[in-house]
Amino acid sequence: MDQLKRQAAARALEEVRDGMQLGLGTGSTAKHFVELLGERVRAGLKVIGVPTSEATRADAVRCGVPLTTLDEIDHLDITVDGADEVDHELNLIKGGGGALLREKIVAAASDRMIVIADDSKWVATLGRFPLPVEVIPFGLGATRRAIEKAFAQSGVSGQMALRKAKDGHVFVTDGGHWILDAHLGRIEDPARLAVALSAIPGVVEHGLFIGLAGSAVLAGGEGIRVIERRKPKGD
Ligand code: A5P
Repeated sequence: MDQLKRQAAARALEEVRDGMQLGLGTGSTAKHFVELLGERVRAGLKVIGVPTSEATRADAVRCGVPLTTLDEIDHLDITVDGADEVDHELNLIKGGGGALLREKIVAAASDRMIVIADDSKWVATLGRFPLPVEVIPFGLGATRRAIEKAFAQSGVSGQMALRKAKDGHVFVTDGGHWILDAHLGRIEDPARLAVALSAIPGVVEHGLFIGLAGSAVLAGGEGIRVIERRKPKGD
């Protein structure tokens, strides 16, 4: 599996040109991309990156990839990031690693988002992977009830669990927020659910990435598939 992730990362690296400003994703697949990018940088490639998490920042520094912020530059050429699920319209579930907020800010600031994954992430319908919803700790009970209402109005249902870290304490995101993981099974209309969740005051962000990915590089036993999204970004 790790080999497939690295192959997808290597294929995405072929899209990178000298002088590009890059969004650097988070997770085990994106980590391969950062490592391979670091090799190219050490060989003379000139790029600059914006990391989507403190973990990726540390990886990029270790690999020698120069970094900047979205305050210092006005756009990114390409963001390369992993995903927990990818559907046929290149809608995504992300946030398994807890970095969904910065990942979405960075993806939205990019001319193009390339998703890299092993092909086990390719699904007919999103939802088997629990949907992360990043919330403000204050007023959690009220936010939870509002999310349940949004689920009902969007035709989905399932249990939500507050994410815990490996040490048993509540998982805290890089932004200081908490995550509710929603076990929904099937999300028939992810765009509708995304709008409903975004309207809730205590929800900071959610893991549905709708219309952001321009292409997906999926590595499987039979090789690599590159899938382009049919509609342009923003439609
Ligand atoms: C991080 O918050 C996530 O969005 C990751 O991009 C996603 O979980 C994919 O991670 P892996 O590449 O480790 O499967």
